[in-house]
Amino acid sequence: MYKKRKISVAVVYNHPGEDIYEKIREVDADSLGFEPEYDINVATVTEEYEAIAKALQKQGYKVTLLNIKDDIQVLIDLIRNDPHDVIFNLIEFYRDDPNLEYLIAGLFALYGVRYTGARPFTLALCQRKGMTKQLLLANNVPTPRYKLLTEPKLPGRHGLHYPMIVKPSREDASSGVEKGSVVYNFDHLNERIKKTFEEYNSPVLVEEFIEGRELHVSVLGNDPPEVLPIIEFDFSELPSDYPSIISYDAKWNPLEESFHRVHSICPANLSKRIEKKVKSAVLKAYKITGCTDYARLDLRLTNDNKVFVLEVNPNPDLTEGVSFMESAEQYGLSFGETLEKIVGFALRRHYVVKTKSGKTDTQI
Ligand SMILES: Nc1ncnc2c1ncn2[C@@H]1O[C@H](COP(=O)(O)OP(=O)(O)O)[C@@H](O)[C@H]1O
Ligand SMILES: [Mg+2]
Repeated sequence: MYKKRKISVAVVYNHPGEDIYEKIREVDADSLGFEPEYDINVATVTEEYEAIAKALQKQGYKVTLLNIKDDIQVLIDLIRNDPHDVIFNLIEFYRDDPNLEYLIAGLFALYGVRYTGARPFTLALCQRKGMTKQLLLANNVPTPRYKLLTEPKLPGRHGLHYPMIVKPSREDASSGVEKGSVVYNFDHLNERIKKTFEEYNSPVLVEEFIEGRELHVSVLGNDPPEVLPIIEFDFSELPSDYPSIISYDAKWNPLEESFHRVHSICPANLSKRIEKKVKSAVLKAYKITGCTDYARLDLRLTNDNKVFVLEVNPNPDLTEGVSFMESAEQYGLSFGETLEKIVGFALRRHYVVKTKSGKTDTQI
């Protein structure tokens, strides 16, 4: 009997080093010096990618999970010798550099393979926070007032008001965002600018710090993209000397108190009018930055309900139950169903090319 061929998906990621979350398993939670709210034994990096591969398998795909471990040849071999219907692109950096992320998508485009998520241009653009902010402002999407510094000195008349936040302009995932990133005076500001230049050796963004609520808004799909239920962060349990931000520690480090004191609420409690305003800014930003398939936008909402887009994250983290996936679940999609939708978007994508004979061919 004829059996339908399974669609094949290669889930690719890049994790060359040791897994810090494996080490955390050896830590005794009682030795932390504070009361942890969450289990400190979070999933290891490998387990997270395995969960994605397993969930896709459950949805009926033939799945290969591949860690390229900083070796591009491994990816080229996969494309040439073991082609799959879709590559699920979870590679976020190469040789520890997130600025090379877009070239990986470029490789898929050049080989003409279908892949999930954002195109190379969008990945490159959103990696540059200053450039993205300019584009947002040009399209009337509000983003905090800022200066992009190419040397460790703020121009005399910068016109920005305290407090401000200093962050590296070409990083993501809260890299370089710490308790001390929010500054309240000139000395601290200069000190922080110097430190950020030294650590990241790339332009530094100085932004007005927007007090108020933080919203993370996930978007799924293409025609048309849909805004998923909005997440708000509750900072009320952070120690009083800690600014209301999602620092690197609060996001990733279960050994730090801030990790246990920031909580997500989904759906956020917003009036219909404000929700509409947020969604409209988000969809506009998603479209003008050229996002495809899925993305997450980080926003702040002031006490008088002014909306500011902080950044656009194409190909955001897909860990089960958190962030993008928390919103998808609230929307009514399981982890597996959401992943299946993303594969579906990539499968439907095709490029139309003109051949020498003038005929139009449809090519993946
Ligand atoms: N202008 C700002 N006003 C208030 N908080 C900010 C501002 N910029 C960044 N933050 C805080 O820092 C976190 C990380 O900054 P973000 O711009 O999202 O960069 P990334 O997540 O790529 O590191 C945000 O989630 C937010 O909590
Ligand atoms: Mg962010």
